[in-house]
Amino acid sequence: MINYQMLELHVQSKLYGNNNGHGYDHAKRVANNVRKISEQINCDLDICLVSAYVHDLIDRKVVSDQAQAISDLEIFLTENLGLDHESCVHVLEICNTISYSKGLEVNSIEAKVVQDADRLDALGAIGIARTIEYSASVNRPIYVEGDRTDDTAIGHFHTKLYKLIDLMNFDISKSIAENKMEIMYMFEQQLIEENK
Ligand code: ADP
Ligand code: NI
Repeated sequence: MINYQMLELHVQSKLYGNNNGHGYDHAKRVANNVRKISEQINCDLDICLVSAYVHDLIDRKVVSDQAQAISDLEIFLTENLGLDHESCVHVLEICNTISYSKGLEVNSIEAKVVQDADRLDALGAIGIARTIEYSASVNRPIYVEGDRTDDTAIGHFHTKLYKLIDLMNFDISKSIAENKMEIMYMFEQQLIEENK
């Protein structure tokens, strides 16, 4: 039995103060997305959930010393959470491979579930908010007429976010993505109108 309360508290303390879209709230939403996907997909739910919670704890965008973060995470997973060696290796492999920017091949069903769950959090209302938050943090505007590059938040919808649906591993993720994309298209249309 995984102690999820202990896991949540650990992730909360590790990601405390993160302001680049990889805070505890993101980890929790990814875990919620895992739960929804797993209603349709046969997978090891504990492996998926643990990975969803910890996936950003060893990301270079989040930690300065990645080797130390990996070693800390291994200790936490085995000694505190009680994962066996094989499960610990699997969780670390999932964390290492799911990122869009790394473009690595994901192998296990569990990695595919967590990858979809993470990508779903780049879409919908929260996807809009995270993109604007990121753009603001690098001093980019929300919208410039005609721009479809990463120079604007709306541009990023086109360079990456609208393409994510075709990269989803499962039909259930695609159908969740479809709903989330509706609000993004509406938001973009409304923004264009308001800037006319
Ligand atoms: P991953 O590591 O999974 O590739 P990122 O760290 O690139 O994810 O993205 C985290 C969040 O920041 C996402 O919501 C994403 O849409 C947003 N983001 C990333 N790059 C940009 C960008 N160039 N402009 C606006 N938002 C971005
Ligand atoms: Ni993530």
